[in-house]
Amino acid sequence: MNSEEIRKKFLDYFKEKEHAILPSASLVTPEEKGVTNSTLFNTAGVQPLVPYLLGEEHPQGNRLASVQKCIRTIDIDEVGDNTHLTFFEMLGNWSLGDYFKEEAIKMSFEFLTSIEKGLGLDPNRLYITVFEGDENAPKDEESFNIWKQYVPENRIYYMSADSNWWEAGENGPCGPDTEMFYDVSGNLGDLDKEAFMKADEEQKVVEVWNNVFMQFEKKDGKIIGKLPRYAVDTGAGLERLLTVKNNKKSIYETDLFSEILEKIRNTDKNRIIVDHIRSAVMLISDGIIPSNTDRGYILRRIIRRAVKNAEDINISEVAKFFINKMGNAYPDVKEKEQEILKTINTEEEKFRKSLSSGLKEFNKISDKNISGEDAFKLFSSYGFPIELTVELAREKNIEVDVDSFNEEMKKHQEKSRTAAEGKFKGGLENYGETETKYHTATHLLHQALRDVLGEHVQQKGSNINADRLRFDFSHDQKMTDEEKQKVEEIVNEKIKESIPVNKVEMDFDEAEKTGALHFFGDKYGDRVSVYYIGDSIESAYSKEFCGGPHVKNTSELGEFKIKKEEASSAGVRRIKAVLK
Ligand code: ALA
Repeated sequence: MNSEEIRKKFLDYFKEKEHAILPSASLVTPEEKGVTNSTLFNTAGVQPLVPYLLGEEHPQGNRLASVQKCIRTIDIDEVGDNTHLTFFEMLGNWSLGDYFKEEAIKMSFEFLTSIEKGLGLDPNRLYITVFEGDENAPKDEESFNIWKQYVPENRIYYMSADSNWWEAGENGPCGPDTEMFYDVSGNLGDLDKEAFMKADEEQKVVEVWNNVFMQFEKKDGKIIGKLPRYAVDTGAGLERLLTVKNNKKSIYETDLFSEILEKIRNTDKNRIIVDHIRSAVMLISDGIIPSNTDRGYILRRIIRRAVKNAEDINISEVAKFFINKMGNAYPDVKEKEQEILKTINTEEEKFRKSLSSGLKEFNKISDKNISGEDAFKLFSSYGFPIELTVELAREKNIEVDVDSFNEEMKKHQEKSRTAAEGKFKGGLENYGETETKYHTATHLLHQALRDVLGEHVQQKGSNINADRLRFDFSHDQKMTDEEKQKVEEIVNEKIKESIPVNKVEMDFDEAEKTGALHFFGDKYGDRVSVYYIGDSIESAYSKEFCGGPHVKNTSELGEFKIKKEEASSAGVRRIKAVLK
C-alpha cells in the first residue's frame, strides 16, 4: 500500500462512518485567532479545529476527518533516524460532542486491523497505553475496559500525564489520551510495562495512533474548566502507518522517500537532506520565504542545514522530486513549482557562496570553545545559522557561547533597527518571551542538577527555542526516574517561591569570587555580567556568568517538566524540558 492509497483508505473509512472530509489547512497557524499562540506552524491535525472544540459550531457537522500537513522542529536532531521527520502528515478524525471513547476506540481498532475496511495490521502486534490519572483527571478505566474487548489485558498499560495527556501550548482544549503502538520487529509477544517501555525506547514498538478525549480547557497553562461538550481528537502519522503496513524498518524506506534516496544513497546525512528539502517545499508552497525571524528563519535554517550536508548532491533535483511526489496529494505544490524552485535555489546560492570560506573560518577558530562574538561573525559574514555552528561545534566536542551570541545579535539588531521596522522582534531564533523563560529555567535546571547529581555537573551545551529547552551536561550515567523527579521538584519549588532574577556587572575576578558558574575558559573580558536568582548574590540559589536575557521573577515560568534524558556523547547527558 503506498502513501496515496493510505490517505484515501483513511478518508474513505471515515466518510463511510459519516464524517465530513476536510482539506488540510495551511501549515501556517493563523495569528489573529490566537488559539495556536505558542506554535509557529500547525503541529497536529487538531490545531485548525480548536475553535470548534471550544464550542463554535462547525459548518460541516460534528464528525470530521482530515489529512493535515504538520511541521514539528522539536525533534530536529533526531531526524535521519527511523521515525523522525520535520514535515509529516497527520490522519485524524474528530467528534464534536458526538461519539466518545467507545466508538472512537472501536473505529481506530477496526481501521488498523480490518483487512477489508482498513490496513489489515496484525492485532497480535498491538500494545495500548491509557492515562493513569492525576490531579487534573481520574484514571481512565473506561478506555482500559473498552480496549479489553480488542487487546489482551496484559498489553494495556496505565501511563502518566507525560505520555498520556494531550494539549497544545498554554491555551486551548486538553485531556487524557490513549495511544496505540505496533511491534515493528513482529515477535515481541507479551511484555510487562517495563519491557514495553524499553521496547518503546529502542524503537521496537512505534506509536501509530493517538486518541485524545478532550474534556478540559486551559488558559495560561492552568485548567479553567470543562469543555462545553466533550470531544474526540485523534492523530495517526501517515508516514509511520505506511512504514508498519509495508513491514519497513524506517519511514525513509517508504514510497515517500525511497526513490530519491535510492538515487542519492540512503545515508543518515542524505535522510536529513531529503527531510529538510521536503519541509522546505511544503513551507514555501504555504507562502513562507527565508528570513531571519520566526517562520522564515526556520525555513532558512533547514535549507542551509541541507545545503551544508549536500556536498555533491543536487538540491534542485531533490526539490523537484518532492514537488511531484507531494503535488499528487497537494496540487498547489505543483502549481507553485517555479516559485518553490526559485526560492530554494536562491537561498542555496546565497549560502554556497560563503559556505566554504565559513567552514575554513570555523576550522580556524574551533581549537577552543567558540565565543558569542565569533559565532556572530560566522552568522553575519558567512550566513551560518547559530544552530549550524552549534552542530559543527558538537562534532568537535567543543562549546558555543550561545547566550553571548544572542546578546551580539540583539546589539546588532538594535543598531540596524529603523523607525520603519517598528514591529521588530528581537533575537535570531525569535528570542521572545517564551525563549526568555526557557533561558531562566535553564539556569534553575543547571543548579538543580548539581544539587541532585553532584558538583561534577557542568554545562556542555544549551539550545533554546519556543518549544523547549535542551541542556547538555557532564555526567556519565543515565539519570534514574527518582533523580529526574527530584530535579523537577526542585525547579518547580524555586518557581513557586517567586524568586527575583537579578543582574550585576562586575570585574571578572570579583565575579569569580562570588562562586558564579562559568564554563567558557578564559574568553571573558575584564567586566562580566552575572545573573543570580535570589534576593542577594550571597544567598542566591543560582548564579552564572551570562549575557541574558532572563525573566524578572521565577514565578513567570509556569510548570517545569523534563521530557527526555538521554546520552549526547561520551560522558555527556542531554535533557529536553518544557514549561507548561
Ligand atoms: N492531537 C493529538 C496528537 O497530536 C491527536 O497526538
